[in-house]
Amino acid sequence: MVTSSAPGKVYLFGEHAVVYGEPAVPCAIERRARVSAREIDEGLRINSEDLQLDGFTVEYDGDGEDQPDVDVAQPILDAAMGYVNEAVSQVRDAADAPDAGFEIEIASDIPLGAGLGSSAAVVVAAIDAATRELGVELTPAEVAERAYQVEMAVQDGQASRADTFCSAMGGAVRVEGDDCRTVDGVGNLPFVIGYDGGAGDTGALVAGVRSLRAEYDFAADTVAAIGDVVREGEAVLGTDDYGTLGDLMDFNHGLLSALGVSSRSLDSMVWAARDAGAMGAKLTGAGGGGCIVALDDTDGALTALRYTPGCEDAFRAELDTDGVRRE
Ligand code: PMV
Repeated sequence: MVTSSAPGKVYLFGEHAVVYGEPAVPCAIERRARVSAREIDEGLRINSEDLQLDGFTVEYDGDGEDQPDVDVAQPILDAAMGYVNEAVSQVRDAADAPDAGFEIEIASDIPLGAGLGSSAAVVVAAIDAATRELGVELTPAEVAERAYQVEMAVQDGQASRADTFCSAMGGAVRVEGDDCRTVDGVGNLPFVIGYDGGAGDTGALVAGVRSLRAEYDFAADTVAAIGDVVREGEAVLGTDDYGTLGDLMDFNHGLLSALGVSSRSLDSMVWAARDAGAMGAKLTGAGGGGCIVALDDTDGALTALRYTPGCEDAFRAELDTDGVRRE
């Protein structure tokens, strides 16, 4: 049995626009998914106590027909199963072992579907653990590439490389189309996360932006403006000019909001953080619900978020310089 872990992430800048070739800067955070893989004779057995799915244990042959009988919203379950299923396909391909069976155990402290890259972290850790279990060593970049193929397959061809590359490599990264790089010299930014306990439907939110962009030139301009914010932000990344970084986060949130991907609870957490003195705050990830990220090196935003109606959890998130690793 081999165990690997991979980090979740926040988007400092650039979600949604990255789908259209603009740059984005996600940062890995010290919240991890841990996946253990053990080779078995055939099929796929998945155990998870805490994918925020109230715990489920399923046994099926991986052909998608044998649906598990658990008390979880079907779309969430389908999504979780789809990611693991596709990850195992990638592992079989990488190891040239089309019939390999696995028992997979998943433990994660990243809320599911909340903009912190939970699915990417599970997929990256699963590919790493299961290939190692078969005696194949992939580099983090190779794991990232295969994890991206998984997201593309599960998300109907609507995925950027940002989440998976960030989770595999760790630290701050920059993704622009197929060009993925790590960004050196980014210190431990004072991230504070607010979580509304909900989740957004990434596919539907991405599709919403796509149709707005097709319908209105000003929506396409808004997407392009997010790219400009990212480029401006890159210029101060790695300096201690948190004031400018925060202003740009605020601007980025406004543009995402214009594209219709914020929500009442995300906006109220963003404003609670700003009112409490955060240097900037924005939603992170697909939006619709889930998490915001604020920049604050005092206790103000953290305390304010804890008292904000609709905010279920608030915590500091340290930059995680480790990407995928063997546990
Ligand atoms: O909510 P998350 O963590 O799945 O992030 C989605 C980010 C998008 O830019 C909206 C989509 C993508 O694949 O980049």
